[in-house]
Amino acid sequence: MSKPKLVILTGAGISAESGLRTFRDSDGLWEGYDVYEVASPRGWHKNPQLVLDFYNMRRKDVANAKPNPAHTRLAELEDYFDITIITQNIDDLHERAGSSNVVHLHGQIFTMRSVYDTQTIYAIKDDILLGDTAPDGGQLRPNIVWFEEPVPMIETAAAITERADVFVIIGTSLAVYPAAGLVNYTDPTIPKFIVDKQIPVNGRLSDFTVIEAPASVGVQILAEKLLRMNADQAVK
Ligand code: APR
Repeated sequence: MSKPKLVILTGAGISAESGLRTFRDSDGLWEGYDVYEVASPRGWHKNPQLVLDFYNMRRKDVANAKPNPAHTRLAELEDYFDITIITQNIDDLHERAGSSNVVHLHGQIFTMRSVYDTQTIYAIKDDILLGDTAPDGGQLRPNIVWFEEPVPMIETAAAITERADVFVIIGTSLAVYPAAGLVNYTDPTIPKFIVDKQIPVNGRLSDFTVIEAPASVGVQILAEKLLRMNADQAVK
């Protein structure tokens, strides 16, 4: 029998217990910076040095962080479910925990690209400096989707969400579109769950089973519910 398709949308909350800061838990500041100064084309044009320095620091933070029990438990669930994780996070903690199918909606901190070319992506472990250029002569920048930029992976993510047998949201305020709109692509009849330390207020969550807990604890509770649900289906 094929495994049920489990689609999981994650946000900054799942990496909080790994020591990486969320965005909206601190007055619109991200690590003390105004998010628009460091994560928008306007910010980049105004002060590219600041933006590069900021992401160089974030890259070090992610390199020093480790997956937490929430990431690990999701990877283990691949024994029972055909899982795709759609993450808004730029860290690689899902991959390092062992998850096989991860779609990054907002880019990845360990990749970079030319300012002229959105398609050619290069790996980066250390810093990007002002003056570092790609073969096309363009300044290299983090391969991150900034505010007001298109989200190239959204159509892929929507198609995956439409095929879900079970849909789960973990650790996102659902404040940023188009990511938050993925909920609208789910089949209305499938089971849906949300795990968050503080469940966001959102009209689309009325048919979700709510697990209000930090991700490490909440994902453990989620796993128990999902496995019980799977066992009940098998008996039917
Ligand atoms: N466990 C579970 N949930 C948590 C935890 C935790 N330990 N800590 C915080 N949260 C929850 C918060 O309650 C909130 O609902 O995680 C969510 C974090 O929300 P945001 O900070 O808005 O992060 P996110 O939704 O991922 O942001 C989306 O915004 O700035 C952009 O591109 C950036 O991908 C990001 C996008």
